[in-house]
Amino acid sequence: MSPLKCCINPSILSADFVNLEAELARIANADAVHVDVMDNHFVPNLTIGLPVVERLQKVSPVPLDAHLMIADADRWAPLYADAGLDSVTFHVEAANAPIKLARELRARGAKAGMALRPGTPVEPYLDLLTELDMLLIMTVEPGFGGQSFLDVMLPKIRRARAAVEGSGANVAIQVDGGITEETITRAAEAGANVFVAGSAVYGKPSPEEAIESLRANGQLAFTGTTLISNNA
Ligand code: DX5
Ligand code: ZN
Repeated sequence: MSPLKCCINPSILSADFVNLEAELARIANADAVHVDVMDNHFVPNLTIGLPVVERLQKVSPVPLDAHLMIADADRWAPLYADAGLDSVTFHVEAANAPIKLARELRARGAKAGMALRPGTPVEPYLDLLTELDMLLIMTVEPGFGGQSFLDVMLPKIRRARAAVEGSGANVAIQVDGGITEETITRAAEAGANVFVAGSAVYGKPSPEEAIESLRANGQLAFTGTTLISNNA
């Protein structure tokens, strides 16, 4: 089993959209930057699309982790992989052929991520784990930053972690929504190891210090409650 470490991926949804290059420079110690793409169809909000993400990819000091909250993922997600992103996550609720899509993302050089809305159970998708590099369990209803962490998602994270261990696949478990210095501990104890944080990073005077502090809390809780060896 390859070792897992805890990653902090700040969400630029909470950044200043007029100064994105400068905002990226403020999180240079992050593991990746989480880029929330919303189309006002899959979620009731609109952010940025492919042309802006392509520019971010060119200037970012850290890898890009795209979270596509868009309809017709089968059509659009591969184009984000073509842009050279490290990781592309589509919502299973928006994909007609998730296995085909995950394979296509990998074939185009990106890590394949699959996201589940809070109301979407993980069990029907456990056989897909070997096709994925990351499973994103939403801990708020997607669409907006600054919402409260849904503790009712903790059992789903635990079941997903157990299934990943059972499968032997090297799948990261990402959580997104309401992650703070406090909630990260519960999410990590349940088995998440990649943490998206928008307001808890960009809402702080020093985003770099916030990242270090979140990572330390997450790593401590994750290491203490899983059987996986850590290299961080
Ligand atoms: C919500 C987005 C999140 C959001 C998280 O739909 O997917 O990435 O930016 O923001 P916080 O950390 O403030 O909950
Ligand atoms: Zn997100």
